[in-house]
Amino acid sequence: MNGQIQDWGEMAQMRLSEISACSLPGEGVTRLPFTDEHRQANKIIAGWMQTAGMDITLDAAGTLVGRRQTGGKRGTKTFILGSHQDSVRNGGRYDGIMGVALACLAVEKAFTDGCGPDFAIEVHAYADEEGVRFPTALLGPRALAGSADIAVLDFADENGVTLRAALDAFGGDADAVLSIARESEDVIGYLEAHIEQGPVLENDNLPVGIVTSVCGIERNTIRINGKTGHAGTVPMRGRRDALVVASQIISELTVRAEALDELRATFGTLTLLPGAVNQIPETVTLSLEIRSPSDADRRAFSAMAHAFTAETASACGCTAAMQQNYVQPAQDCHAPFMDKLEKASLVHQGRNRLLPSGATHDASAMAVLCPMAMLFVRCRDGVSHVPEEHASATDMGIAIRVMSQFLKSL
Ligand code: HGY
Ligand code: MN
Ligand code: MN
Repeated sequence: MNGQIQDWGEMAQMRLSEISACSLPGEGVTRLPFTDEHRQANKIIAGWMQTAGMDITLDAAGTLVGRRQTGGKRGTKTFILGSHQDSVRNGGRYDGIMGVALACLAVEKAFTDGCGPDFAIEVHAYADEEGVRFPTALLGPRALAGSADIAVLDFADENGVTLRAALDAFGGDADAVLSIARESEDVIGYLEAHIEQGPVLENDNLPVGIVTSVCGIERNTIRINGKTGHAGTVPMRGRRDALVVASQIISELTVRAEALDELRATFGTLTLLPGAVNQIPETVTLSLEIRSPSDADRRAFSAMAHAFTAETASACGCTAAMQQNYVQPAQDCHAPFMDKLEKASLVHQGRNRLLPSGATHDASAMAVLCPMAMLFVRCRDGVSHVPEEHASATDMGIAIRVMSQFLKSL
């Protein structure tokens, strides 16, 4: 694409419509990391990056990196924009990939306007932010930030394929993941545009908003072991029913989370064995995700949940263990960047809205490497992680202008 495009937002909408076809069949978009759908999507994203004048590489952690060197006086410094290419199952066509599309167009617009920056620019399409295929996430940005834990490479998907095998087969290099960390002094900062995934901007009737902080998150697996038996011959009293224990844990911890208005506790997955209508459940495995803008509150709730789980199990003659398998601390956005975004968005929408992010993002991990900022784009009906997720071309056009102006202000 060249500089004639007057409507940057329409171009974004067109590109997101095209790439949404890189998905497993079914409702909405299902594009998991290191799959054929991911490979197809990377081919399209590489085209966006090329059009924005970038050279393209796939790094060891599977991130598609577009880089435009400018030879300017800050040529050895790099500013990074980006987001994730993957989706949840049957998700929307904006979560993640919108941030990649808008970044490519904002870079293209900055240079088209003759205001290309004097530092190098990169756009990143991270492979895996959702953590749907593997019980981990953010390997890409964590590798760049030097905070990757290579133990996650041995985590396997539901078919027993390890992250290591999938990454290597895709063209990454699992053995080199720890060697791609960037030096903080070489990176000016990171900006991620993302659909808001909530109702705040729509209620405020604003196209874009500036994020103040990204919540902290942890994911735990709770395993409860009881004793199975015949549903008809084992008396109710004295049963060691693992599902009864799970139900008590779920309902009590939910009540306690509801009493803390900024904290979120979600039991997203549950499996049980033996899983027959006439057998008492013997083992239950469930996930407990805890989020909060305050790491102290999240850790306190987690410690309470650990203790309550063990007590509840033993009261029913069962045993239970709660194991944390993912944690990402809360991160504040960089105030000077927020200030630049506020100035740029005032020009294009006349007023501003600052808001926290209840969702986590690649920016959560990039904040370990460099100062970061996020720009939210209005989300129709505030719904996300569903096929109905939608952002308008007009709003995306405004976001592109704000991002491009932000780059010029650095
Ligand atoms: O779960 C989240 O907050 C993000 O969408 N992965
Ligand atoms: Mn996302
Ligand atoms: Mn998401």
